[in-house]
Amino acid sequence: MAIISPSILSCDYSKMGEEILRMEQAGADWLHFDVMDGCFVPNLTIGAPVIKSLKKCSNLVFDVHLMITDPLRYIEDFAKAGADIITFHIESDSNVLKTLKAIKDAGCRAGISLKPKTSAHAVFPYLALIDMVLVMTVEPGFGGQSFMDDMMPKISAIRRECDLKGFGMDIEVDGGINETNISKAANAGANVFVSGNTIFKADDSKEMISLLRENANVII
Ligand code: DX5
Ligand code: ZN
Repeated sequence: MAIISPSILSCDYSKMGEEILRMEQAGADWLHFDVMDGCFVPNLTIGAPVIKSLKKCSNLVFDVHLMITDPLRYIEDFAKAGADIITFHIESDSNVLKTLKAIKDAGCRAGISLKPKTSAHAVFPYLALIDMVLVMTVEPGFGGQSFMDDMMPKISAIRRECDLKGFGMDIEVDGGINETNISKAANAGANVFVSGNTIFKADDSKEMISLLRENANVII
């Protein structure tokens, strides 16, 4: 069953609490928080204090995507703030095993994210230790970019490896997802779908989430 995780990056920041409630009422499964440090990616967004405040507004799964240079340093902060899943980039400066241990010790689910130029094989050594792989379908940093079709073989390769090893992995796809291309990512093996602009800017976000879910569940 497809999991839809609207990216808060595309919300109206003057009323974040209401926007989160709107997503919950529209049928979102998870909420995706993009944390950017202006260093790992050329953009700045929110930190743990904002997530802590927003945690009071919703019981949905808080899916925190860290696009920061030294994630290890902040794992405890995000866990305490209410993150349920913490995903960091394999390309960051932190030691991967230490960061995974810190996430698990803090009681959260752990994810590893791959930028478009990073190969599927980079994550293979860690599959036994993680709950999710996040495959970026845009260069991380900004919402509203175009979906990269050529990332589909990467998703398939990760799903194949997980099946081979018997890991029931969540594979999340993030960047430029819309009602048309979501089925490509689903067919490739993704089961968690982040979507920012498509959901937040839709005339009817509830209808859009239903459509995304429907199209993700259609295996062509
Ligand atoms: C990009 C972020 C994405 C982004 C998705 O760096 O990780 O989560 O907000 O937004 P859309 O769906 O608009 O590409
Ligand atoms: Zn993201």
